[in-house]
Amino acid sequence: MDNVLITGGTSGIGYALARVFAANKYNLILVSSNYENLKITQQKLQSEFSVTVYIFEQDLSELKAAENLYNSIQAKNIHVDILVNNAGYGLVGATEEIDFCNDEKMMVLNMISLVELCKLFLPHMYKNRHGSILNVSSTGAFQPGPFTSTYFASKAFVLSYSKAIRFEAEKYNVQVCTLCPGATITNFFAREGTDLPKTSMPADEVAEYAYRQLMKNKSVFIPGAINRVMQAFPTNIKMLAVAKMKKD
Ligand SMILES: NC(=O)c1ccc[n+]([C@@H]2O[C@H](COP(=O)([O-])OP(=O)(O)OC[C@H]3O[C@@H](n4cnc5c(N)ncnc54)[C@H](OP(=O)(O)O)[C@@H]3O)[C@@H](O)[C@H]2O)c1
Repeated sequence: MDNVLITGGTSGIGYALARVFAANKYNLILVSSNYENLKITQQKLQSEFSVTVYIFEQDLSELKAAENLYNSIQAKNIHVDILVNNAGYGLVGATEEIDFCNDEKMMVLNMISLVELCKLFLPHMYKNRHGSILNVSSTGAFQPGPFTSTYFASKAFVLSYSKAIRFEAEKYNVQVCTLCPGATITNFFAREGTDLPKTSMPADEVAEYAYRQLMKNKSVFIPGAINRVMQAFPTNIKMLAVAKMKKD
């Protein structure tokens, strides 16, 4: 059985992905910053799917957390076949009003830990000529996001970085794919303090779609026809819509 490592596997899109992978007979390695949630998720998924679920408590918004996680996984001799960099959150507000320490933590989680985990696991995948990475970006990657500026910029970074390393990894038979969800029904909006948009998709639909595209080795994928159509709108219009949504 192959093992899939999912950061942020206890809630929302990460949890929905964990369920899809478990249903397809993958063992799971779940990471989050909350041990209680991890324990509950482990018990639930192990009993429902009869797969092995390893759990690792790690706050990936801290520098060096990715390296600590990697060392803990190595120490247990657990092999990672698929890495899903999913953990992330957004912050809203005018840029001068968001405390830099909060922004910094979010940027470490959304970008630095993601990059570090790619760098740590890719050499093993290259050596084995086998492995996949799924990085979770957002439709926010395709435009600037007024009043959520660093979050949208972090997702643009994830998209650009993932496409670049996909190019590099191809010759080692390793695939790097990017999921760009639009609004999805998860804890994301409650956490950032905004209302759930009416067009939000269920997380399990996002996860099913993402799994299918990953298995086809598609480069970049956006779940939901409406989300795909919306990407054709002019950038200025999309920026106005985001500003209205995040400012009000
Ligand atoms: N929901 C949307 O509309 C939407 C749209 C586009 C992209 N996305 C992206 O999808 C990804 C998943 O978000 P979601 O919507 O599923 O949100 P969610 O329901 O809030 O889930 C986030 C997951 O990440 C974990 N996490 C948060 N902070 C962490 C930290 N410091 N260290 C380790 N794990 C941490 C959470 O667990 P703990 O808090 O217990 O650590 C949880 O398991 C994110 O990258 C987000 O940017 C979401």
